Amino acid sequence: MLNKVEEIRKSALQACGQAGSVRELEEARVRFLGKKGELTLLLRSTGQLPAEERPRFGKLVNQLRDELETAWEQREQQLFLEEEERRLAAEALDVTLPGRPAVRGGVHPITRIIEETKAIFMNMSYEIVEGPEVELDYYNFEALNIPPDHPARDMQDTFFFNEQLLLRSQTSPVQIRVMENRQPPLRILAPGKVYRADSDITHSPMFHQIEGLVVDRGITFADLKGTLQLFARRMFGPDTKIRLRPSYFPFTEPSAEVDVSCIMCAGKGCRVCKDSGWLEILGSGMVDPRVLQGVGYDPREVSGFAFGMGVERIAMLKYGVNDIRLFFENDVRFLKQLGRQGGLVC
Ligand code: DAH
Repeated sequence: MLNKVEEIRKSALQACGQAGSVRELEEARVRFLGKKGELTLLLRSTGQLPAEERPRFGKLVNQLRDELETAWEQREQQLFLEEEERRLAAEALDVTLPGRPAVRGGVHPITRIIEETKAIFMNMSYEIVEGPEVELDYYNFEALNIPPDHPARDMQDTFFFNEQLLLRSQTSPVQIRVMENRQPPLRILAPGKVYRADSDITHSPMFHQIEGLVVDRGITFADLKGTLQLFARRMFGPDTKIRLRPSYFPFTEPSAEVDVSCIMCAGKGCRVCKDSGWLEILGSGMVDPRVLQGVGYDPREVSGFAFGMGVERIAMLKYGVNDIRLFFENDVRFLKQLGRQGGLVC
């Protein structure tokens, strides 16, 4: 019997030492220390011994049980640590690997022109204002000296909702809305979307304009010219020249179309300027006295100048883009090209 105790002790300690995982260790525990385990069976066989040997034997078996339980606990602890270490090693991250680069967006070229223009005029202490895109006929036409049936309405192919309501075809109505509510001196810049039923490689049914208006005592045509000269130099480069050609707009008198020296060939003549050396960039003029009167200003007291430019046209010239639709397709390759190089020549 004593041999048997020693035998179990040896094989149990061996099984304990050889268990390669917590699960294997548990299996071995059940085998030796479980309810039907070898040690339990051994204890049950106490009855076969002579009565005087039983206490000693019982004590021995209980000692062995204590010893084995301690061995199991230690081995379990050890296996647990080993397994933990293996798991951590398998899950380890190499923090020295380079990360995935974040894709950086850019500012859309149209937004960029608008922001640059705003910055140029804010430097001249202009105030940025906005007006509604769904506009009344009154502001889009009538108050700008374009009565119903006036032929100037044909200059712009307008989207009408009904007799009075339309999608604004120009940013000029913002002039009226501001003047109606305020007194001179005024110095405003109004960027925004405008709409015309027109679509080809240089026209889009929605496009952007930037309107400027200055009203004060003693504003002259020279102020208009000086302002636009400064704008052209800041927008297209310090050597840019401007040229004013007489024109007609119902809300300005006199009116002028403004050209800049060609930014592609510096005025020598090329495909972009059709060999003229000049590029038209905006319309302008002295605010017609009838318009001033219409908003309750006294044209004998104050005068003003106004101008309006097409943002897409300026972007096309500045970035050398020959199809306006590219700005609205938003092909990421096109946007990236403009973003990276600041311009491309088609
Ligand atoms: N609103 C005009 C257009 O869309 C552009 C324009 C011309 C605006 C002359 C002005 C101006 O303020 O003075 O064609």
